[in-house]
This record gives sequence, C-alpha cells and structure tokens, in this order.
Amino acid sequence: SMDSWDQAPAAGVIEELTTADLARLSPPAAPAPDAPITSGGTESNLVALLLARERAAGGPLRVVTGANAHHSVHRAAWMLGLPAPTVVACSKGRIDPAALDRALTGLAGSPLLVVATAGTTDEGRIDPLPETARIAERHTAQLHVDAAYGGPLLFSERLAPQLAGLEHAATVTFDLHKLGWQPVAAGVLAVADAAMLAPLSLRADYLNADDDTEAGLPDLLGRSIRTTRRPDALKMAVTFRALGRRGLAELVEHCVRTAEEFGRAVDAHPRLRLRPGGIGISTVLFRPVVADAVSDEAGDAVVAAVRRILLAEGRAVLGRAVAEDGHGRSRLWLKATLLHPDAATADLLPLLDLVTAAADRALREASAAEDTEVPETERLSP
Ligand SMILES: Cc1ncc(COP(=O)(O)O)c(C=O)c1O
Repeated sequence: SMDSWDQAPAAGVIEELTTADLARLSPPAAPAPDAPITSGGTESNLVALLLARERAAGGPLRVVTGANAHHSVHRAAWMLGLPAPTVVACSKGRIDPAALDRALTGLAGSPLLVVATAGTTDEGRIDPLPETARIAERHTAQLHVDAAYGGPLLFSERLAPQLAGLEHAATVTFDLHKLGWQPVAAGVLAVADAAMLAPLSLRADYLNADDDTEAGLPDLLGRSIRTTRRPDALKMAVTFRALGRRGLAELVEHCVRTAEEFGRAVDAHPRLRLRPGGIGISTVLFRPVVADAVSDEAGDAVVAAVRRILLAEGRAVLGRAVAEDGHGRSRLWLKATLLHPDAATADLLPLLDLVTAAADRALREASAAEDTEVPETERLSP
C-alpha cells in the first residue's frame, strides 16, 4: 500500500519515477510539474477542484464548465460544497468561447475555475483550448482540463498538436484505463507545480511521523486523498518500459486511424448517417437512415432499440450519445468509441449491416405495436 514508505519502498521509487515522466508530458511549460496517481478521471477531477478551491481567495470558488463536461465535474463541486457549476453552451460539441466569456463576465468578483474537456465523453470533441485559456486568463480564472480521454494524444508527435493550449492549464486529468490500456485504476492528475499539492499534506504519526520524514523517509501520504492505495504506477511503468512513448503513440494513432476509416465506411453506407462534423478522436456517432424517416421521437426510439437488440442478441455493445444533428436539434446517436489497439477496420465493418438489420427490426416491431395498440378513447371508455 502506498500510504507509507515502509510498506512500499520499491513501489514508492517506481511511483516517483513514473509520475516524474508523466509530469513531463504535460503541462510542458510548467516549472515544477508533478502528476500524482488517482483512482481515475472522477477522482482526478475531484482533486483538481479541491486544489482550485484551496487556492481561491475572496469567496466561494465558482466553477464554469461546458455542457459537454463529464458528470464528475458537477459531482465534485457538490461534494466539495461549492455552488453548482455554471454551464456554458456548446457549439458542435465544443465549448462556445463567446458564451464562456459572457458566463465569466457574469461571475466577475468571484474566484473562478474554468473546466474544459479534451475528449468529451459523448463525442470525443476537444474544447478550443488556446481560446479557452486566453479567456480564462483575461478573467483571472484558473484553468483545469479534463483530458481523461484525449490526454494520450500527447504520446504521438502527429496528434499532440490537437491538444495545443493544454500547457496553460494549472491541472490536467489523465485516465490511462482509456487510451492507455491499463487495467482500472489508472488515473493521473498532472499539476503545473508540485507546490500546488500542499493542501493534501497531512501528518499521521503512524504513517509519516516528523522524525521519520526528517530522517529521510519519503512522505507518500500527501500525494492522495486516499490512505491505503494500490501501487497503480507499477503497471503504468511496465507499459511505458515495454512500449516506450513511440509504442504507445502507435497504439493511439492506430485507434484514431481505425475510427477515421470506420467513420468513412459509415459515411459511404447508403443506409447509415455519420454525425455531421465527423469523428472526435476515436469516437464515431452514427444513426440508421430509417430513424430519420419518422418523427424525432420515433427515430430516437429506433436508435435506442438498435442498441438494445444488438446487446440482447449478444452481437455488439454500442454506446449511445445525445448530440446535435447539424441542424441545431438534439438527437440520439449510436456511439462507437474505438479503443482496442488490435481491432482492424475489417473487424468492425460487419457492425454496419448488423445495425441496419436491427433498425429494420426495431421499426417493424414499433409499427406492429402501434397497430395492436388500443386507441386511448377506447381504453378510457367504460
Ligand atoms: C471526459 C471524462 N472525464 C472523466 C471520466 C471519469 O473517469 P473514471 O470513470 O475513470 O472515473 C470520464 C469517463 O469515464 C470521461 O469520459
């Protein structure tokens, strides 16, 4: 367990070396970066808000985030006793900079934290980070970026520019059980300056007595909100050693390329529609065309039914996401988040016909149910 040095001397060294490497990934411009290990994106976001709250002066911290943010941002504010976050509208799945500017202006005078997302849960979109950082700075707001999904783009020289602007963040959430292929748990919270972790420091004589620390035993307790914790850095270190940064980059690039190819196949399929705006990182949103031939409500019901049919038949497990349809309306989409580093596009193509067949069945079943439905007037009559 990583709560005291005497229990985990070897794991302590491994964690120190691994987090030092992770800290160098981002934020690159930071003077003394650090990257403590967490249990996942949820805990990273919680600790980010906690550290921001502790840095805030002159009133309760106001969190401002996009409508595309992960639910854990809202839950973290709730757990920390902060006012509910102000939610900023998005355009095409990304935070709208003008709306962000207006929201921050409306909260002038309060300590502020902007939470942007690099790789949204629903669509894989990356908020406009350089613009978001500029606006946050203009309003003297702190900036946290939830890069739980998109963070590993940093491994790839080709893809890392998509995260330009991340270097302005005070804290960044990473979650290597997504594009990092770690078994759960594998969260990381990168901080621009190790001194920012001071609020986590804690003395408990049975774990980090002053005299032990003075005698040179490293103090691990102040690196987490947890006490007992597993040496999760070990498996990360093994992966980094085995694959190297280039090896990880190749896996990330493979997933992105597979998603691009899958997206093109969806787009070319006469009976499927790719969500306008294209794929996001390795996330492909799509719908069967037949779902657009009926009312919005009935169409969304077909999409939801497709997912359940494939799940119940044991054929495929697709995600779902509500997202704009390109005409300003929210619609339900099937979601394929491609994270398997060995899956090839050819492995995924059979999914397209499975989806269209399931959509036909869902539509047939919906119209059969409608035919047999007793009209409401009859149902109410005595
Ligand atoms: C953008 C984003 N942030 C945070 C999380 C939460 O991460 P975890 O489930 O590891 O707590 C997720 C998804 O799980 C996510 O997609």
